[in-house]
Amino acid sequence: MQNRGAFMTKIINVKDKLGNPAEEAYRVLRTNIQFCNFDSKIKTLAITSCNPGEGKTTTAINLSISMAMSGMKILLIDADLRKPALVKRLGGTNAVGLTNLISGQASLQDAINYTDVDGFCYITCGPTPPNPAELLSSERFDEIINEAKKHFDMVIIDTPPLGSVIDCAIISSRTDGTLIVIKSKAVDYRSAMRVKEQLEKVNARIIGVVLNKLDRKEYRYYYSPYEYYGNGSAENTGKGWFRKHRKQKAQKQEA
Ligand SMILES: Nc1ncnc2c1ncn2[C@@H]1O[C@H](COP(=O)(O)OP(=O)(O)O)[C@@H](O)[C@H]1O
Ligand SMILES: [Mg+2]
Repeated sequence: MQNRGAFMTKIINVKDKLGNPAEEAYRVLRTNIQFCNFDSKIKTLAITSCNPGEGKTTTAINLSISMAMSGMKILLIDADLRKPALVKRLGGTNAVGLTNLISGQASLQDAINYTDVDGFCYITCGPTPPNPAELLSSERFDEIINEAKKHFDMVIIDTPPLGSVIDCAIISSRTDGTLIVIKSKAVDYRSAMRVKEQLEKVNARIIGVVLNKLDRKEYRYYYSPYEYYGNGSAENTGKGWFRKHRKQKAQKQEA
């Protein structure tokens, strides 16, 4: 238990529950999102996908933790009110969570779970309601997000798949950005386009796509830009490019 002002707060141990996250990949994702912040500040981010099981919750958790480890204060909210996952993944309880907050039965402070990752907090779904879309459309949900924005650098919202239910479109219309998680080789072009169009209809700002669950060979293909782009000759790739330009610069300086 930790004393935070007037509150005696239980600290939830999440470090042991994280498995083996691909830390470098999430650092790259974090950095890319920070680049999106140049034009207009992204303080609220919804994470969705076309289908269940593509990796929304995994991405939301690991991205939140990566951001917290870079010194930001992050609040992750489980807004998958149909199939909540954060309690199963991180612990805590659904007795007090987002649905209690929306229905006015709890305050933000009551619902926040503090963790042993400095700066990383989360809110569970709460008791699952019969009318998720209605709750998420409520003004109260907006107020909660606005209040959370005052206390955190980023609010990340885990949502249900947009290919199945409308909830994420409702959430995305209120967030500064939306990230789509696509499971490699599992989603056809049309489904992905349908999700993109649904988000555009509600004026959501899609900030990018996470291609998830790539096998190692594919990963190398995508992340070897010097092999992928250019003409592939040694001169234009990696060390070849570096040596050539260093030599040219040295020649210029001598002249
Ligand atoms: N990049 C990944 N590598 C390996 N397993 C993953 C990856 N992303 C997700 N998973 C696994 O896939 C399953 C579904 O992921 P989850 O994040 O719960 O999906 P969603 O929230 O979209 O339903 C989980 O068992 C999770 O551990
Ligand atoms: Mg999930």
